[in-house]
Amino acid sequence: MLDAELLKKELAPHGQEHLVRFWGELSEAEREQLCADVRAVDVAEVVEYFRRTQETSRTDQQKLDDRMKPIPPHIHGSAVRSGPREIAAYEAEGLLQVSRGKVGVLLMAGGQGTRLGVTYPKGMYDVGLPSHKTLYQLQAERILRLEELAYSRTGRRGSVAWYIMTSEATMEPTLRFFEQHAYFGLDRRNVVVFEQGLLPCFTFDGKIILDGKNRLSKAPDGNGGLYRALREEKVLDDMERRGIEYLHAHAVDNILVKVADPVFIGYCIKKGADCGAKVVEKTNPTEAVGVVCEVDGRFQVVEYSEITPMTAERCNNDGRLTFSAGSICNHFFTRQFLRHVADRHERKLRLHVAKKKIPYVDASGHRVVPDKPNGIKMEKFVFDVFPFSERFVTWEVDRTEEFSPVKNADSTGKDCPATARNDLFALHRRYLELAGGMVTETEEDFVCEISPLVSYAGENLEGSVADAKLRSPIVIWAEGEVPASNGTVNGTAGYINEIHAYA
Ligand code: UTP
Repeated sequence: MLDAELLKKELAPHGQEHLVRFWGELSEAEREQLCADVRAVDVAEVVEYFRRTQETSRTDQQKLDDRMKPIPPHIHGSAVRSGPREIAAYEAEGLLQVSRGKVGVLLMAGGQGTRLGVTYPKGMYDVGLPSHKTLYQLQAERILRLEELAYSRTGRRGSVAWYIMTSEATMEPTLRFFEQHAYFGLDRRNVVVFEQGLLPCFTFDGKIILDGKNRLSKAPDGNGGLYRALREEKVLDDMERRGIEYLHAHAVDNILVKVADPVFIGYCIKKGADCGAKVVEKTNPTEAVGVVCEVDGRFQVVEYSEITPMTAERCNNDGRLTFSAGSICNHFFTRQFLRHVADRHERKLRLHVAKKKIPYVDASGHRVVPDKPNGIKMEKFVFDVFPFSERFVTWEVDRTEEFSPVKNADSTGKDCPATARNDLFALHRRYLELAGGMVTETEEDFVCEISPLVSYAGENLEGSVADAKLRSPIVIWAEGEVPASNGTVNGTAGYINEIHAYA
C-alpha cells in the first residue's frame, strides 16, 4: 500500500510536498509511477542545486574580469605554430597509444538538438554530403581509419573504445541506428552506449514542476552529466577493465572532428597533462564563444556573456585578442582524472541555468504548454572540471581544419548543415591539393568528399591524385564502399572514383 503521507513527509523538508497534490485522483498504478519518479531523484540534492543557481546568478561580473589571465604560453600549444617534426612526434605518441589499446573516445550525444529542430539524435543527421553519411557514420569511419593508421605505423593492432553518451531521448534510436548499420564496420564490443542522468525542472521560486499528475518534469543534466554517468553507468569500470588510459571527449555535432586525434592526445601525454582542451583562435571579440583562461591560478571557461566588452576586446601587442582560446567542446582526460572527478568533485560542478517554456499541470490538473518561460532547466557543463586539473594544457588548432558544428537550421546561415557541408568540402579539396591534385576551377561550391576510410586527415592521397586534374564534384570512396547515389561513376585509378552526378 502506497502512502501519500509518507511521501509528503519526505518532500516537506525540501518544500516539495506539492508533488503529491493530485494523489487522491490517481489510480494505484499511477501512484506507483509517481513514487518511482520522485524516488529516482535525490530531492535534497536537487533542491540544493536550485539554491546554488540563485547564488551563481548573483556573481559579480566585474570581479571576474579583474581575475582573468590568459593561458601561459608554456601550456598553450598550437598545431598552427608547431613545426612538422614536433607535430609528427605528438602524432607518433598518439598512434602508439592507439595501437596499445590505451585510447578511448567519449562522444557526447545526449543533447536534444532543439536549435537544429530534429526529433531524432543529431548523430543520425545527414548534412547532405554526396555519400549521405551521417555524423555517426563519419565518426565511426574515422575511428576505423585511425586504427589502420596506428597498425601501419606500429605493426600492432589496437582498437579504440567508443563510449557514446546518450540521454533518455537519444539512447534507443542511437542503439537501433547502430544495429541497423552493423556498427559501420566497427567491432560492436568496442562501442559502449550509455545514458546520462536527468534533473528536474523548477519554477522560478524553487518548486519542482509536475509534467503530469503523476510525473515530474525532467531534462538531461547537461554534457557535464558525463561525470556522474561515467560512475553510475560503470563506464569507468569498463575503461579500467580494458586498460584504457586516455580519453578524447567531444561533441557529436562537429562535422570536422578528428576523432581520437593522435596529435592532440600525443601532445597532452607528452606534456604530462591530466586534462586538456582543444581550442580555436577567437578572432572577433563579439563571437559568442567561451574562452579558456586562468582565474585565481586555476583554469576555466569564461562565457562571453560573463565578461564586459572591454575585456573581450583586449588585445596583445601583436594585435591578437588577449582572451582568444575559444572552447569547442573537445577535451582530453586521463582515466585517473575522470575517476577523481567522478568520485570527488562531481557534485560540486557549477550549475548553468536556462529559462525555458516548460509544460506543467495547473492547479485544476490540466496540462498547460506555456507561451513564455515559466521555469528553469539546470545543466552541468563538461568543461567545468578544468579547475580540478593539476596539470592542464590547451592545444590550439586551425578552425578550418577541425571545427564546424551543426547547431542551427539552414535558415540561420551559421553553424548549420550548409556551412558544415561546405567546410568539409573546402577541407577535403585542400587535402587533394596538398597531395598534388590540381583543382582548376575556382568556384566556391566545389564539391569534394573523401571517405574517412581512405584518409583520416589528408594522408594516403598522393598515389591517387598527384598531378591529376580534378573537377567538381569529386567523391573518393574506399574500395568496397557502395555509393549511396546511383550517379555516374567514372572509375579512375584503383579505388578512387570521380563522380559526376549524385542524388
Ligand atoms: P549543445 O549545448 O549544443 O546542445 O550540446 P544540443 O542538444 O546539441 O543542441 P540544442 O542546444 O538543444 O540546440 C553540445 C554537445 O553536448 C551534448 C550534445 O549532444 C552536443 O554534442 N549534450 C548536450 C549532451 O550530451 N547532453 C546534454 O544534456 C546536453
